[in-house]
Amino acid sequence: MASNMTYYCTIIYITFILLLCKNVQGIVPAVYVFGDSLADVGNNNHLELSLLKANFPHNGVDYPGRKATGRFSNGKNFADFLAENLGLQTSLPYLSLSSKSNNTSVYLTGVSFASGGAGILNSTNSGTCITFDQQISYYSTVYGNIVQQLGTVQAQDHLSKSVFAIVIGSNELLNYAKSNSGNKATPQQFVDSIIPTLQGQLKRIYNLGARRFVFIGTGSIGCTPALREQNKTKECNAGGNYASVLYNQAVSSLLNEMSTQVTDMSYSFLDTNTVLLQYIQQPSAYGFTEVESACCGLGDLNAKVACLPISTYCSNRSNHIFWDFYHPTEATARMVVSTAFDGSAPLVYPLSIKQLAS
Ligand SMILES: *[C@@H]1O[C@H](CO)[C@@H](O)[C@H](O)[C@H]1NC(C)=O
Ligand SMILES: *[C@@H]1O[C@H](CO)[C@@H](O)[C@H](O)[C@H]1NC(C)=O
Ligand SMILES: *[C@@H]1O[C@H](CO)[C@@H](O)[C@H](O)[C@H]1NC(C)=O
Ligand SMILES: *[C@@H]1O[C@H](CO)[C@@H](O)[C@H](O)[C@H]1NC(C)=O
Ligand SMILES: *[C@@H]1O[C@H](CO)[C@@H](O)[C@H](O)[C@H]1NC(C)=O
Repeated sequence: MASNMTYYCTIIYITFILLLCKNVQGIVPAVYVFGDSLADVGNNNHLELSLLKANFPHNGVDYPGRKATGRFSNGKNFADFLAENLGLQTSLPYLSLSSKSNNTSVYLTGVSFASGGAGILNSTNSGTCITFDQQISYYSTVYGNIVQQLGTVQAQDHLSKSVFAIVIGSNELLNYAKSNSGNKATPQQFVDSIIPTLQGQLKRIYNLGARRFVFIGTGSIGCTPALREQNKTKECNAGGNYASVLYNQAVSSLLNEMSTQVTDMSYSFLDTNTVLLQYIQQPSAYGFTEVESACCGLGDLNAKVACLPISTYCSNRSNHIFWDFYHPTEATARMVVSTAFDGSAPLVYPLSIKQLAS
């Protein structure tokens, strides 16, 4: 009898846990994604004049069907793993939707505005990407459409449950780290020069219904193969890494400030810089054997040339941190997002994505 009770209790307990898990997965109706090449799932394929593309081999060599989709990766990227962890399909690229049809009900399942090369400033890779400001303008069209479809109250309900993921800042940091200008700003001056713009952009997204923010901070920019390659002893660019630390601190303060000014906003911030440095400093603990060279490219550290069809690529992508001279491999992206999803402070805070979603 007692063991029967235990048996039934166990079953009830397991069912309860399963229901809880299902709930976490089912509660977010959509992800709206903003950002750069770390999250682009094909928007730049539609920019006719842009050279910032990845819709050719060897990109996608590990993607289902070995397909080069426009992701700057051997396989899936941050946006894919974010959706996967939330139990959703990857949000479709905005430019693929508007060109295909006027069936806007797909907007309710999430949209990606992310574009390779994009930065906080309009001037960053100007003319060859969808700037963050333009991404928000596109989103404002989507917002208007959702309000039209659902009515104001339902639309706000839908958007307040949705996740707004932002991956931005790396392109400004890369430009900063690469600059050899004589009167170069200090890392702090540089960060201070871009944060007010970002503040306006986040407020604009909030004013268009966003309530749950996921901000993926910038990584250790100075350790990308492109920047290591410029150093005689192949060390990380210290200024670039320091600027990334300051940028992440400033973004997290900004989010904290925003969330205290209103009562209905929550967020999850990932300190990607620290996460990546852990991989670089203790590679074997994370299954990596190559932390310096890119997998795909040519020349020193495979970082002289981008991942182009003429480039060579490594046979084992899961032991490399970097896919090409700027971008992480699928293996890295999977691990980073997994930490964002159910890791804890000081890597992800004040909420993990899982907590944010429930
Ligand atoms: C979609 O296109 C059809 C046919 O062109 C048009 O009748 C309809 O009004 C359009 N719907 C929207 C929401 O634009
Ligand atoms: C519009 O798209 C949705 C989701 O992709 C689909 O379920 C629906 O059938 C489509 N409607 C029309 C009229 O094409
Ligand atoms: C950036 O471009 C947008 C249009 O996409 C414009 O509204 C905004 O004022 C520009 N920002 C600056 C600082 O020029
Ligand atoms: C290489 O990087 C190290 C560590 O950041 C730095 O001390 C050194 O000055 C750099 N060398 C060159 C030539 O940039
Ligand atoms: C590739 O690297 C991973 C991670 O280090 C390792 O587990 C795996 O065995 C390697 N695969 C091959 C085919 O060597």
